[in-house]
Amino acid sequence: MVSRVIPVDPFDLVIFGGTGDLARRKILPGLFRRFCAGQMPEGSQIIGAARSELDDAGYRDMVADAIAEFGGQQACEAGTLDAFLSSVHFVTTDAKGDGGWVELNSKMRDDKVRAFYFSVGPSLFGDLAERLHRFGLATPDSRIVVEKPFGHDLESAKALNATLAQHFDETQIYRIDHYLGKETVQNLMAVRFGNMLFEPLWNAQYVDHIQITVAETVGVGGRGGYYDKSGAMRDMVQNHLMQLLCLIAMEPPAKFEPDAVRDEKLKVIRALEPVDWHHIVRGQYGADDDGPGYRDDVEDPKSRTESFIAMKCHISNWRWAGTPFYLRTGKRLKARASEIAVVFKDAPHSIFGADAGRHRNVLAIRLQPNEGMTLDVTIKEPGPGGMRLLDVPLDMSFADALGPDAEEAPDAYERLIMDVIRGNQTLFMRGDEVEAAWAWTDPLIEGWQARNDVPKTYDPGSSGPEDALMLMHRDGRKWREVKA
Ligand code: BG6
Repeated sequence: MVSRVIPVDPFDLVIFGGTGDLARRKILPGLFRRFCAGQMPEGSQIIGAARSELDDAGYRDMVADAIAEFGGQQACEAGTLDAFLSSVHFVTTDAKGDGGWVELNSKMRDDKVRAFYFSVGPSLFGDLAERLHRFGLATPDSRIVVEKPFGHDLESAKALNATLAQHFDETQIYRIDHYLGKETVQNLMAVRFGNMLFEPLWNAQYVDHIQITVAETVGVGGRGGYYDKSGAMRDMVQNHLMQLLCLIAMEPPAKFEPDAVRDEKLKVIRALEPVDWHHIVRGQYGADDDGPGYRDDVEDPKSRTESFIAMKCHISNWRWAGTPFYLRTGKRLKARASEIAVVFKDAPHSIFGADAGRHRNVLAIRLQPNEGMTLDVTIKEPGPGGMRLLDVPLDMSFADALGPDAEEAPDAYERLIMDVIRGNQTLFMRGDEVEAAWAWTDPLIEGWQARNDVPKTYDPGSSGPEDALMLMHRDGRKWREVKA
């Protein structure tokens, strides 16, 4: 199989917050990898913009360090880094004042795609959007890229949408959820809508339940200040898990086109029922030899923010009525492992009798690490001694099946940035989608705040609090093991 790099048009990409953490960890190394892969065409420019007093040379040193630290050089030939750096510039820019904007404007070229990446806190979105217009940088075809968190609740998300809408059309706004850029997340659509095998069974009649797990081993680290105001619900469920849920549950869009896909996702979010508080388990990790507990990490001994959440949800529509969706995500868990498991119902009648036990088909889609799919099928246990049944996995690791191409696939940020340059919004969230997600999330958060709910402590390195296991046990079901 030959890896295909679809070139994009030459572009001018301005990164506001160009010296920040996200730019250093993800955006700049990602752009460098695209450059190495031959996807960033000659004549493109990357312009870092931030308040720091740097010149081009100083910024290039910072970019080179970021690439060395956060990976990006593997597939590159000698000398490529210098070639890449020659397309990198820096303009000291004041998001809240007038400094730097005229110079920034003088660097923009009329015949190139213009993209402005707002890698800054949402409180600056309005200032940047307004100045892009006032100083003449924004053209009708320019794109802006905004990061999560897109608001803190429905009201703030609406306010942000309204602010951006004063200056940009919805077709120019790219709201990033990096989960949508992950290879296997897109594969969900390929598996569902590219195969005849699964879709006829993809409904409440055949599916017993669906589990979505995004488990992390890391704690909140140095992000305590931000995280403690968010918690797992706002940080992960409202966006990443919600997007996974949409892709697994949505109706087939007529075309793989931005609004066709986003219309279907929106319908799923709007069909989500409010969640009964008995069906939500919140947790906080305790301390162990490897690190402090959550409350120490966020430096608030009384914090009631959750670093883990598990919940049972229902989608009220024709396809899914009666099929529970169990979601869980947390930090400092046993393994970094994300998967979606579609657990099919028992066969209606066992011709093998009660002794054969209970067997179920499970389609597990592993998002990370070791992306792939497993389908558990029931077979006869080999050997004499009667008909004993056994579940064995048909296991496909994409890396094994696809070889080096699977490993060279661009990471989420790289792919999404290239989509911005191409002008393809399919993998970005539309304003109404984000608002609908907050409209579902807000009452759940308000509910536990009103009840003064205190998260349960769980052991780091575990699968979360005991109550989360009970959430499933009560229904006669079991979480799949969290394992890498
Ligand atoms: C981010 C969250 O959006 O996603 C982090 O803010 C989380 O808290 C991260 O750790 C997980 O992303 P990934 O790609 O490592 O699964």
